[in-house]
Amino acid sequence: MKNETITAIGTPNIALVKYWGKRDIKLNLPTNSSISITLDESLNTKTSVLFSDKLNEDKLYINKELYDLKDRKNEKTAFMADIIEYMRKLKKISSKMLIVSENSFPTASGLASSASGAATLCYSISKALDLNLSEKELSIIARRISGSACRSIAGGFVMWKKGEMANGSDSYAEQIVNEKHWPEVIDIITLVSGEKKKISSSEGHKLTPTTSELYKNRPSSAEARAEKLKKAISEKNFQELAEITMRDSNSLHAVMLDTYPPIIYLNDISKKIIYAIHELNESNGSLVAAYTFDAGPNAQIITLEKNKNKVVAAIKGIVDDNKIIIARQGKGPRLLKEEDSLIDENKLVPR
Ligand code: PMV
Repeated sequence: MKNETITAIGTPNIALVKYWGKRDIKLNLPTNSSISITLDESLNTKTSVLFSDKLNEDKLYINKELYDLKDRKNEKTAFMADIIEYMRKLKKISSKMLIVSENSFPTASGLASSASGAATLCYSISKALDLNLSEKELSIIARRISGSACRSIAGGFVMWKKGEMANGSDSYAEQIVNEKHWPEVIDIITLVSGEKKKISSSEGHKLTPTTSELYKNRPSSAEARAEKLKKAISEKNFQELAEITMRDSNSLHAVMLDTYPPIIYLNDISKKIIYAIHELNESNGSLVAAYTFDAGPNAQIITLEKNKNKVVAAIKGIVDDNKIIIARQGKGPRLLKEEDSLIDENKLVPR
């Protein structure tokens, strides 16, 4: 175990075939496989971990706010507390830890802050404990906190196989190809809204499968799309990638609307972007860009580096230039230097 502060950086991922609905709520086991791109550090989470005998309980700060790890009513903190305990047991120690985590972007606004946060949390604790876990093991641990987090453990294009086992041991994410295979694929992120979503994805994962009739068809069609997309990625077929991405996002937001009561994440700006991208593709005679939306109104537009300016021009007037972030593919979490620590070691609080 490291008796010094460990600091790591991790990033969100954007799913092109998405996860929505769990076959096991406690274990975060999905009803279909999903595929994502792990993004570079344009948007990131930094997390510092310190073990100290001066602490008599674990302390977790996210964006300077202290979270109560004993609060079992909050699903996410309960999972985090369990994961912290689980990893501590792997090392057979009892020392308490201070964790300070900061996102460089709005939390819970549908920009995969939980994926980035949970993946970086698991990675940094495993490093602080010197656990030497494989990517597969880390992915399974991260999945327990937030399903999509299991995909942020690896870089490049990543597939989370839904798995078949009831205990979730075969439900983890694996790299399809690394960030060097098809680096021309980029993600234009629009920050339409930083507002916290009204319905959390955890609630949505439960509500949609139990109330939407349209959802019955989604697991099998999304599974088929994931298989097709995997092939398109290895063949660098952008036409296929773009169509699958837009169709999957539309299917997701259709079943969300069909949920009772309905879940609506898209707003008028999101819809304008959808139309603008279809117009752009039509005027080009082939697909040059694909929009995709998670649990929020912020469009992420997947395109090729050479078409970046065309896409930015197409959404001009809908999204201000200063609300656009261009992210490329990333490598997954990594350690930072000592001076990047977010912890004041004397006072045992965030810096
Ligand atoms: O991992 P969660 O529980 O935050 O769910 C993520 C759901 C989506 O972002 C909408 C889709 C996905 O696969 O990332």
